[in-house]
Order: sequence, then C-alpha cells, then structure tokens
Amino acid sequence: MNRGNQCDVLVIGSGAAGLTLALTLPTEMSVTVLSKGELANGSTYWAQGGVAAVLDSSDTVDMHVADTLDAGGGLCREEAVRFTVEHSREAIQWLIDQGVPFTREKQADLSDGGFEFHLTREGGHSHRRIIHAADATGAAIFSTLLEHARQRPNIELLQNRVAVDVITEPKLGLPGNRCVGAYVLNRDTGEVDTFRARFVVLATGGAAKVYLYTSNPDGACGDGIAMAWRAGCRVGNLEFNQFHPTCLYHPQAKSFLVTEALRGEGALLKLPSGERFMPRFDPRAELAPRDIVARAIDHEMKRLGIDCVYLDISHKPADFITTHFPTVYERCLAFGIDITTQPIPVVPAAHYTCGGVMIDQHGRTDVPGLYAIGETSFTGLHGANRMASNSLLECFVYARSAAEDIASQAASVRYPLDLPPWDASQVTDSDEDVIIAHNWDELRRFMWDYVGIVRTTKRLTRAHHRVELLLREIDEFYSNYRVSRDLIELRNLALVAELMIRSAMTRKESRGLHYTLDHPDMQPEAVDTILVPPTYVG
Ligand code: FUM
Repeated sequence: MNRGNQCDVLVIGSGAAGLTLALTLPTEMSVTVLSKGELANGSTYWAQGGVAAVLDSSDTVDMHVADTLDAGGGLCREEAVRFTVEHSREAIQWLIDQGVPFTREKQADLSDGGFEFHLTREGGHSHRRIIHAADATGAAIFSTLLEHARQRPNIELLQNRVAVDVITEPKLGLPGNRCVGAYVLNRDTGEVDTFRARFVVLATGGAAKVYLYTSNPDGACGDGIAMAWRAGCRVGNLEFNQFHPTCLYHPQAKSFLVTEALRGEGALLKLPSGERFMPRFDPRAELAPRDIVARAIDHEMKRLGIDCVYLDISHKPADFITTHFPTVYERCLAFGIDITTQPIPVVPAAHYTCGGVMIDQHGRTDVPGLYAIGETSFTGLHGANRMASNSLLECFVYARSAAEDIASQAASVRYPLDLPPWDASQVTDSDEDVIIAHNWDELRRFMWDYVGIVRTTKRLTRAHHRVELLLREIDEFYSNYRVSRDLIELRNLALVAELMIRSAMTRKESRGLHYTLDHPDMQPEAVDTILVPPTYVG
C-alpha cells in the first residue's frame, strides 16, 4: 500500500507502544508505522521478563501502587501510578484477546479465584504479578501484535525509515502551533521524504545506547526525546538511567540480558568466592529494587577489583530451569555455560530511560498533535527508579489512552497543507565518516565513565564540557553533509546525553538511580527535574 506519504496518524516506532496504538485506533483512520530498520529490531522484541499487573486474587491495586511508589524513591506521580495500575487488568485482557501466548499455570486450580496464567516475581514487587511468555515475553507480544497489524488494511508498516525531525507549523512560519508531519530518511533510496499527518506519535523507545554497555538493541538512541525537544516539548527526569544488574559477562555476548525473573524464582548473586553479598545491602537481598542491586554489584566489583559477579540458579531442578528460562539457558549454553550446573557471570549494563518527553494521561506532549508513548515519554510512573516490568504495562495503558484521545479529536483536525520538501541543496556527501564513528565511541565512553551508576559533580562537569564540544562538531557536520542513519542517531544521542547530564547536575541529592558522592543524602522534598527548550511556547 502506498499512500503518498500522507496519513491520519504517523507512528514513529514499531514496538509494543506503537503497535498497540495503531491497533487501538479506529479502522477508518489511516495509520503509518515507521521502523528504523527491520520491524523486529526494537527493544520490545528483546524484553524477557513480562508485564506487571494486578491479576491474582491475593493482590490489589493499592499494593501494586505502594510497591511502585516505594521503588520510585518518593518521586513517582501518584495519579500516574494509580492510572496505570488501575488499567492493568484490561490492558492484559486486551493482550490475551489478541492471542499473546502467555505461560499458563501447570495445573490451574481456579476454584479459589486463582488465575490461569503463571505469574512470576521481580525486584520490588511484594506479590507475584508478572505475566509472561516463558523468558521471551517481548518476542511473543511483538509477534502477535505485528501479525494483527499486517492484517489491518488501515495500517501501513514501513521499514528502513529513519525520522529526522517532526514538522511543526511554527518551524515552517505557518500560523498555528500543531505538529503536522515529519521528515523521514528512506534508507533504501537515500532520499528524505516529507510525511503529512494529522497526528504524530513518538514511540521510539529509550536512549540506553548513550552508554558504552547496554542491554538495548542498537536503535535505542533517544530519537523521540531529541525530536520532541527540538519541536519545543519539555522533558523530565532524564538523570534517572536504570542499569540492569545482570547482563551476561562474556566477550562474545553483546550485553545479553539475564532476566530478573531468575532472581524472582530464587537465583542468588555471589562473589567469585561463592559468598552471597546482597543480604549485606538490603533485607530484600536479591529482590531489592534494581538501583540497589546494581549499586551493590558495582560496589563489590570495585572493592574486590573483579570483572563480574555470579548469578546462580543451579540449586533448582534442571527441568524447572529449562522450562522457565529456555532463552537464557540456550544462550548461555552457546557460550559454554550450563546454568543448570554453573553460575552465570554477570555485570550491570544500561537498560532503561526513566525520564523522557513530558506527557499527560492521554500521551499529549506540549505541542498539539504530537504524542509520546512508552519509554520515550515521561508520565511520572517510574519516579527515580522504574520497578521491573512496569514499563511494558505503561506502553499498553498509555498507547490505548492516546489512541482514544486521537480518535476523539479526529473529526475536528484538518489535514495539514502541502509541506515544503526537505532541502538538501546545500549539503554534499561526507568525506569524513570517521568523525561520526569517533564521536559515537567518545560519547558512549564518557557517559559510561562519568555519568554512570555512581556520579560526582566533577565527573558530570567534565562530561558536560565534552558533550558541548561534540554537539558543536555534530551540528557543523549535520549542516554540511547529507544525512545518514548514523549521523541522525548520533545527533539525537548527543543531544539527549546533554539533557541527561544537565538534569544530573541540577539534582543536588542522591535519589533512586541518581547517586552522587558529592550529595549522598536525599533532600526532604522530592522535585522533578524539568528542562524547558528554547522553542517552548507554553
Ligand atoms: O529482567 C528483566 O527481564 C527485565 C525486565 C524489565 O526491564 O522490566
């Protein structure tokens, strides 16, 4: 289907949030979903754990809310938490209705109001409330939703399309303040196309690629956050970057995640000597929230000068391990580690961007017509530290709510006028791509070293000087040379890095994922870090 790059709703990003929104919109609305590479290359596909929701009869909304607030270090917005959790059951029911093959209880006894699907536990959750598809939940959800999207005549799925920027009326000097489309690089033709849309949705995931070591796929470059900022949207709490405590430590494993559900089912963290260490850091031990576990591992690695710690589930029966964790089992075995008999070498790696583009309960950003959902957005749900498996839930709840909002406005929003084409008349082909590769490496390395799990004011100041320099170089490059995927991503990542560092410098305390040796205590009052772009019109 070719619509001539015009649609009712342009969705930038093809993960859980983007596909859910596309499938929830009325079938009369034309929807185009863009993916930077192949459709399955986003973070959703790689999510192992599951979706947190109040599903068991012994669990309650209040308990899920209380756990989320506790993990969030006093910074969650309670109305956002409550809104998300209260809509959790219907979001899961929608997924079940779509046919997502969640793991079922072996011998379901539903007579006491029990739930027919298996629920696992993860850090910070006081109850079993993670519905999952073995240890490949993201792949199961993604494949199911994609299958539905492919069958919908109103949904167009385009691969190899990299959004350069969203288009707003003020940027074009037109009357009005709406977002009216986007400039998009078609990687197959090398041309930048102009997309006209009545509504644009940013669902591009997070920015964990800003760090040298990350559990995320290559595309997690903060594209949506950067585009929204340039369009005039405020961003919030970008200093809170979550490091997953347990990524496989192996020279050939590209930051393969070892799901937290292993700890939920009894796996223990150990030093090379075999000694357990988490009980020294928190009474919840291996099931403490992620910030605590990641910091404890970092502390022990630095204290002992070791390259990794170990996650051991070998005390559980082998068939339990291979049934519950087939993906982790197979992957580790490919690297010569049999997790039914051996501990797994693990290290922390950047995993989740808790802050993002400020939105309301309907996914609306500061720019009319522009929405942000999923990891791109900042809803207030995660506070200073996201609780495991709350993020997929957030994707579904806010995607559905944004779709409803768009549908309710559809009749009153006109198609934008013809938009000017991308101007490539002043640029030439780059003869110095080494600059892009070098700046990528430099950025990710100093972010890891200076803006990582433990921070200091000196390290942050150093990082800020470096990023300012990089931004100037990248800007010059962008003005003179034809855009490529690498350049677009680097430009976005460097901008988001600057916003992260600036946010971290603003926070003069340690709270949740932001830990600084210069301000180790928490301030009595919890305040969000909101950054306002020069183009913000309020
Ligand atoms: O450990 C995990 O499976 C990750 C879950 C999450 O990030 O929510």
